Amino acid sequence: MENTTTPFPLSARPQVTFHFSNSPAVHHRGNAYLSHFWNALSIMAPSTERAAMRVLRNARKGIEDLRLRADIDAFLKQEGLHTREHRRFNTRLADLGYEAKAAVDRADRNLDAYLDRVDAPTGLALVIAGEHLIYALSRDLIGDPRVLEGMDPEVKRLFLWHALEEVEHQSVAHDVYVYLYGDGPSHRLRRAKALKDATLILGDTVRDILTDLMAVEPRPQPRQRPELARFMLLSPGYGRRALAHTLRFLVPGFNPWENSGDLLLVEETRQRLSVA
Ligand SMILES: [Fe+2]
Ligand SMILES: [Fe+2]
Repeated sequence: MENTTTPFPLSARPQVTFHFSNSPAVHHRGNAYLSHFWNALSIMAPSTERAAMRVLRNARKGIEDLRLRADIDAFLKQEGLHTREHRRFNTRLADLGYEAKAAVDRADRNLDAYLDRVDAPTGLALVIAGEHLIYALSRDLIGDPRVLEGMDPEVKRLFLWHALEEVEHQSVAHDVYVYLYGDGPSHRLRRAKALKDATLILGDTVRDILTDLMAVEPRPQPRQRPELARFMLLSPGYGRRALAHTLRFLVPGFNPWENSGDLLLVEETRQRLSVA
């Protein structure tokens, strides 16, 4: 039996780099609320990726299957490059006066404390759930052109590239878990519980960073706030649809890649980005 469900050999794209010297902090439709939502995800990325890499590097020691080891290696490379490029963008944001150091430190401490406290399967379950949440945020980023419409081109390219690779490596942590620990009801329950923990940690972190960014925003325009709500709930309904993607995780028998549109979407996005 195949130990990996990723439908193609995974690889990283070390040649991809970004240049943000002309990118503003308010880069999406001139709306600070919308822009700082994306900025909060960017500022959070190195923390969640560090935790995911810590867990998978550790789990790799127990993997003998060569293809699954190759998937882990590609996963680690992809996440490492995401961190490198998001740090580049985050430095640009800091240069423009937008930072959230306390919130990021808190996220790092929370994630480390969680992983120190729980056993290895529970830590891996947290990464599976976190990766699924990030998949849920990535799916319409690459699937619905309206989501990134009106964004600074370089910031848009950053999010498209990152979202593409999150969809590509959506099943690696899941496959590692199944290989090491199995896939019975008790394991599915553990992973479902981990979704609650991952949602709380990621949700609190995004909220805290967004609050810090809005606190230093020199030109807040409260009348722009409804546009963020509209974007999330109505058109294109990004948050509503991310929630629907998230909840599939709880459907009995859920497996990554069962949404058959994903493979086609990955191929289309590779062509759009011309980075494959
Ligand atoms: Fe990532
Ligand atoms: Fe990831």
